[in-house]
Amino acid sequence: MQNDQKQSADKPADKKVFIKTWGCQMNVYDSTRMSDALEADGYAPTDTMEDADLVLLNTCHIREKAAEKVYSNLGRIRKLKDERAETDRPLTIGVTGCVAQAEGQEIIRREKAVDLVVGPQTYHRLPEIVARSKSGPQVDTEYAVEDKFEHLAKPQKRQVQARGVTAFLTVQEGCDKFCTFCVVPYTRGAEVSRPLAQILDEARSLIDAGVREITLLGQNVNAWHGEDEAGRELGLGHLLHRLAALPGIARLRYVTSHPRDMADDLIEAHRDLDCLMPYLHLPVQAGSDSILKAMNRGHTGADYLSLIERVREARNDIAISGDMIVGFPGETDEDFEATMEIVRRTNYAACYSFKYSMRPGTPGAEMDNQVNEAVKTERLARLQALLNEQQQAFNQGCVGKTIDVLIEKPGRGEDQWIGRSPWLQSVVVPRTLGAIGDIVSVDVTAAHTNSLMGAGAQLAPSASQKLETATL
Ligand code: 5AD
Ligand code: SF4
Repeated sequence: MQNDQKQSADKPADKKVFIKTWGCQMNVYDSTRMSDALEADGYAPTDTMEDADLVLLNTCHIREKAAEKVYSNLGRIRKLKDERAETDRPLTIGVTGCVAQAEGQEIIRREKAVDLVVGPQTYHRLPEIVARSKSGPQVDTEYAVEDKFEHLAKPQKRQVQARGVTAFLTVQEGCDKFCTFCVVPYTRGAEVSRPLAQILDEARSLIDAGVREITLLGQNVNAWHGEDEAGRELGLGHLLHRLAALPGIARLRYVTSHPRDMADDLIEAHRDLDCLMPYLHLPVQAGSDSILKAMNRGHTGADYLSLIERVREARNDIAISGDMIVGFPGETDEDFEATMEIVRRTNYAACYSFKYSMRPGTPGAEMDNQVNEAVKTERLARLQALLNEQQQAFNQGCVGKTIDVLIEKPGRGEDQWIGRSPWLQSVVVPRTLGAIGDIVSVDVTAAHTNSLMGAGAQLAPSASQKLETATL
C-alpha cells in the first residue's frame, strides 16, 4: 500500500542525482533502489557528476583500499561543491553504504563538505534525510526497526526497462558467520531474509518489465529462509523452485554462498531446474585447515572439496567460482601451498583473489602474527597466475561448442551484441542472430581471457575492448 501511495505522489523531477557505486552487486542493487526512491522525490538520475544537485557515494568497506578511495573522491567532489556554493545550484554530498555504516560521524569530521551519511539499513529514509540536510549535516546509521523494502518506492516499469534484461534482487542481507577477517557482520548486521511474498512480487514486476535473468543477492544468500503460504519452512532451493515457476523467467542465478549453508535442496535445485544457471560462486578463502580455523570458517578444506564433488555430481557442467585470501595472519609457506592445492583440485572457472587487508574491529586485526606485505604480494602473484591459467582453460574449453547466449546489450561494433553464457562469460555475437532479450544458440569460435567470440563476430579493432565478467 505504502508503495502505491508513493507512486501516485511522485514529484516532477526538477533536480538531478549522481550515484557512484563501489563494491559488491548488493551495492549496485542498493544504488538502483536509492535512485528510484529519489526519482519519486523529484531527483532524476544523471551520469555526470557536474550535472548533479546531489552526489551520493555508495561505498564499500571490505578492504582498506576500498574505504580510502572514498576519502580521495570526497576531496575532489568538495572542489565542485565550493565552485557551486555561490550559484543557485548548491551541491549536496552524501555517503551511503558500508563505509557510512562503519565510520558514521567520523566521515563528517574528516570531510566537512559531506552533508549526509546514511547506512545500508536506512536508505529508504534518504528523501527525508536529504531534505533535512539543508539545515545541517545528517547521520543515520541506526538499524531500522521497519522493513526498508516495505518503505521504498517500488521501481517503475520504465526504470526497470532502462536497466536491461538482467536484474539483481536482494533476498537476504547481513551475515552471522563472523569470519575473522570480515567487516560485513558489522556493516550489514545480522542475517535477515526477505519474505517469500515480497520476493515473488518483486520478481514478477521485473519479469513484467522484460527482465529475463534474475540474480538473487545476499551476503550469505544460501542462508535465505522463509515460510510458504502454509507456514512451512523453506530454504533457497525451494525459493528457486518458486521463482522458476513464474511465467516468463528464463534464467536464475544467486550469489554469494557459504559452504556451510549449501543444503541438499539447493544442490538438488541445480540438478532439477533448467533455468538455474550452471554456475556456483562458493568462496573457500584458503586451503589450510589451520588457517580456515583461524578464519572461523567452520569447515575444512576436505569439507569444501567433497561439497564441490556433490555439486558437480548434481550438475556436471557447473562452473565453480570463488574468493581466496592470501596472507591471513599466521599463514606459513606450507599453508599457502595448501591454498594452491585446493585451487588445483577445485579447478575454478573464475576466482577472485585478494591480499589480506586488516580491518579495524575484526578479530583478524588483533592477531599478532601479521604477514608482511612483500610475502603477500609474491603469494598473490603465484595464485593469480594459477587462477588465470584455469580461467583461460575453462574459456578455451567452450571453443567449438554451441551454447545458449542471452543477448544483453550493444557491443563495440555496430554489428555486434554482447551476451552472457550460462557460465557468466561475456559473448560477442553478430546482431543478425537476434535482439536484446533473446536467448540464442551460438557457435563459439574463440576464447579470450574475459570473453568468448560467437561465430561471425569479430574482435573490435582495439583488442583491449573491455568486456565485463562477473563483478564482486
Ligand atoms: N581482506 C582481504 N579480503 C577480504 N575479503 C573480505 N574481507 C577481506 C579482508 N579483510 C574478501 C573475501 C570475501 C570477498 C568478498 O572479499 O574473499 O569473500
Ligand atoms: Fe564476511 Fe564470512 Fe560473512 Fe562472507 S561469510 S560476509 S566472508 S563474515
